[in-house]
Amino acid sequence: YFYGQSPPVYPSPQMPGSLKWQVAHEKAVALVSQMTIEEKANITVGFAPSNGCSGVTGSVPRLGWEGLCLADAGQGLRATDYVNAYPAGIHAGASWNRDLTLQRARHMGAEFRRKGVNVLLGPVIGGIGRVALGGRNWEAFSNDPYLCGKLGYETIKGIQEVGVTASVKRTYFYLSLDYPLVESGNSPIFLDYIANEQEDHRNPLIGGGDGGGAVGNEPTGWYPAVGNPNNYTVEALSSNVDDKTMHELYLWPFAEAVRAGAGSVMCSYQRLNNSYACHNSKAQNGLLKGELGFEGFIVTDWRALHAGVAAVEGGLDMAMPNGSTYWGAGGNNLVRMVQNGSVEETRITDMATRIVSTWYQMGQDNDFPSIGLPASYVTPHKSVRARDPVSQPILLQGAREGHVLVKNVNKTLPFKTPSMLSVFGYDSVAPPESNLAAPLGGYRLGFLSNYGFPWLAAIRYPFTNPGPIAPNGTLITGGGSGGVAPPYISAPLDALQERAYKDGTQIFYDAVANNPAVHAESDACLVFINAYATESVDREALYDDYSDALVINVANKCANTIVIIHNAGIRLVDQWIDHPNVTALIFAHLPGQDSGRSVVSLLYGDESPSGKLPYTVARNESQYNVQVAHPEGEFFRFPQDNFTEGVYIDYKDFDQKNATPRYEFGFGLTYTTFSYSNLATLIKQGANTSSTAPASRISEGGQDSLWEVIATVSATITNTGDVTAKEVAQLYVHIPGGPVKQLRGFEKVEIVAGESADVTFSLTRKDLSEWSVQEQAWMLQQGSYNVWVGASSRDLPLAGEVTIG
Ligand code: NOJ
Repeated sequence: YFYGQSPPVYPSPQMPGSLKWQVAHEKAVALVSQMTIEEKANITVGFAPSNGCSGVTGSVPRLGWEGLCLADAGQGLRATDYVNAYPAGIHAGASWNRDLTLQRARHMGAEFRRKGVNVLLGPVIGGIGRVALGGRNWEAFSNDPYLCGKLGYETIKGIQEVGVTASVKRTYFYLSLDYPLVESGNSPIFLDYIANEQEDHRNPLIGGGDGGGAVGNEPTGWYPAVGNPNNYTVEALSSNVDDKTMHELYLWPFAEAVRAGAGSVMCSYQRLNNSYACHNSKAQNGLLKGELGFEGFIVTDWRALHAGVAAVEGGLDMAMPNGSTYWGAGGNNLVRMVQNGSVEETRITDMATRIVSTWYQMGQDNDFPSIGLPASYVTPHKSVRARDPVSQPILLQGAREGHVLVKNVNKTLPFKTPSMLSVFGYDSVAPPESNLAAPLGGYRLGFLSNYGFPWLAAIRYPFTNPGPIAPNGTLITGGGSGGVAPPYISAPLDALQERAYKDGTQIFYDAVANNPAVHAESDACLVFINAYATESVDREALYDDYSDALVINVANKCANTIVIIHNAGIRLVDQWIDHPNVTALIFAHLPGQDSGRSVVSLLYGDESPSGKLPYTVARNESQYNVQVAHPEGEFFRFPQDNFTEGVYIDYKDFDQKNATPRYEFGFGLTYTTFSYSNLATLIKQGANTSSTAPASRISEGGQDSLWEVIATVSATITNTGDVTAKEVAQLYVHIPGGPVKQLRGFEKVEIVAGESADVTFSLTRKDLSEWSVQEQAWMLQQGSYNVWVGASSRDLPLAGEVTIG
């Protein structure tokens, strides 16, 4: 395969306005037809807002169209007051719970609406976690496209049901050097696209600055960036993705997003097949608006626009936070492009129509609250109280279900009534910094200070601050634009103390020492550590020596050491997992504000843990096949990253090379045991099983016939232990010629001790197809497909076959 190019696809398809969008489309056409070319152009660009929105579009006051407020992000509304901090994407991913994910989105979306936000800049369904060290993997649900797609689907449904547009991000679309340079008001200096699987080199470095906030986060030595005397540009990394991989991995969740009716997609920073992503005609015109029948608008990531005409023709509909560099203030260069014949006015009309249609589609023409976000919550303002008490159980249950218990020797958990507990680690306590005071500066991650909630700036890798560790605190969210502002933090130590009050337990704690004293009579020692990650920089490692030393020091003195990790991504544990005194381990992810009380309810068995890993935990870093890419060699100024591994990331790679991970994808323990029986597979009566999908309409998500259910697989699960618990039953399929197995179904069911439940998985044509590059179509093969059902990707007691044709 020749990497680094993709074909041109022009012109940009107009909004179809079909089916579910018909009414909104008609209303938008009626409104936009009254707009002048200047007014249409004006609503496609943002300007620096004087309020707390991440971006605001131009408006048309003459017609009563007030413009849109777009704001971050996927775990709650960032950097403001009176909003809730929901569990992060990775946490929802670890819950494998569709309904809870839907509820989370509804409650979160309602808060955005109350604050007058039209567009929620989430959920993240790409980067999908190709690089284990990726700084933003925690924002997405999983590095499996099926799981990520299904939970993304629920999230979009939930957000949009309450009248807020979801702007799904960030496309891993590919782009090409496919657009002829056309001189216009501001001519394109680069041609086209992006794919955002890592943070390092996500933006170009133009003479030492990238205009997007990433400078200073790049490792020094890679380029003479700051003060570069030659003032040359290092372009953003080009993610070079082939067509099959694009469809089967990176585009898969976006198809689900479009199927859910997503009103917006955010194109990403990096280049894709050598074009900047927001200009890539194949990605935007070809895949998203063509193949997937996307009805909404494409908005840039912030300052991801690097062209004038090329981006317009390449399918981009909105430039944020201001288009002035290329599209001109108020979009006046767009007007010039039309006037000088570079662009047809119909394209600008389509951009405006797509934007206005989403506003109607979400019912925002009807009583939408005015913007209730001050530029800074520290300055005096009248706060809009966006929290609703009915969200409480959703926040708490969401926090619980993203915890994954992976080790539990001798049933050390759940606790009965311990008479003495010892609690250790910088991650057990709430961050001690003021959560109101002026932004904290001077940190390596100081970028966050004007970005997220101030105290986020203080959370940093323990190993970059080996001195007093007190400034750290428990991790409930990651850093950057996806970080969230909690109204309070339930820290683990606080919640344990509260429980001790009820039970009469003696608690000893030390949240500071790395080699703490341990009372010899402790029934258990709880060690809380974390693994931080943030936007704008990839992680340095998947473990840190400071935290590992803490665990080992405690384990050396305490026979019942229980480790809890708040991890913003994969965290390795081989440094101590086989220590005979480490009896239990929980990956606690990023639970949001109810962190402490949720983990306590699991430790004491008020509820049995029910999360499963949405990724693979390796034994060491080199077990992962993809590393962070850096510019080198002849393409130093045009860095290239060929995605040669294809779809083989995470468990698909481990399966392929027959490598044994520490904990496999889909794994998680609970306080009971389950058995699996009665596998049955069934081809649906009357289903069309021809190799190519029967000709059908393209509606949102792709051809209708791809979603036809052609087979079902069912099984019985029995709770063979003595407590009620939830199980996530998983279905894997081998598509001949493809990975050993691929997730194609999951069902989470609660089963009372001693009872059984039946689960049924539906397989659509697309679920069983592979993308044929030659046919440019999803193809179903005739013959037998192996299927397995079980508790994880490597614990699959039931095996059978589905035979097509
Ligand atoms: C940059 C981030 O990449 C994106 O996810 C976010 O929505 C925008 N900034 C706006 O803050």
